[in-house]
Amino acid sequence: MEQTYVMIKPDGVQRGLIGEIVSRIEQKGLRIIAMQMRMIANDVARKHYAEHVEKGFFKLLIDFITSSPVVCMVVEGENAVTAMRTMSGATNPADASVGTIRGDFGLDVGRNIIHTADSPESSEREIAIHFTGEELIKYTRAEETWVYE
Ligand code: RTP
Ligand code: MG
Repeated sequence: MEQTYVMIKPDGVQRGLIGEIVSRIEQKGLRIIAMQMRMIANDVARKHYAEHVEKGFFKLLIDFITSSPVVCMVVEGENAVTAMRTMSGATNPADASVGTIRGDFGLDVGRNIIHTADSPESSEREIAIHFTGEELIKYTRAEETWVYE
C-alpha cells in the first residue's frame, strides 16, 4: 500500500467542493488515513512548495495557498500517488480531461482546486511536513475485499 499527500486548496474549500472531492476519493476505493482543515502558515507553505522557489509564480502561489483554509489529507491505497494524480488531472485545468477534478471544476492554472504529491518521494516529504506519524490512522475499509483482487 502506498500513501500520498493530498490538499484541497483554498479555492476548492471556498467553492464548496470538499464533499465532492472526498466523495471521489472514497468512491475510488482509496482510504483516507488523515484529514484536517488548516490555515497553512507561510513557512510551511514555502517548505511545501520549495521546488518552485525560483519560479515567477512562487509568491502568488504562497499568497494563494495561505489565503484561506485548506483540507490536508493522507490517502492510502495501491498506487495511491498515481491514482490521485490521475484523478486530479493536468496542472492547467484548461488541459485537464473531463472526468478529472481539475477538468470538471477548474479554468485557471492558479486556481486548480487540488494538490497531490507527484511521486512517492514527494509524498513522504510532504506527509512529514503536514502530519505527525501519530496522526496517520491504521485501519481497513470493509469494502476493500471488493476493491482489490
Ligand atoms: P500541485 O503541486 O499544486 O499539485 O500542482 P502540480 O504538481 O500539478 O503542478 P506544479 O508544477 O507542482 O505547480 C504547483 C502549482 O503552481 C501553480 N502554477 N502556476 N502560472 C503558472 O505557470 C503556474 N504553473 C504552476 C499551479 O497552481 C500548480 O498547481
Ligand atoms: Mg506539484
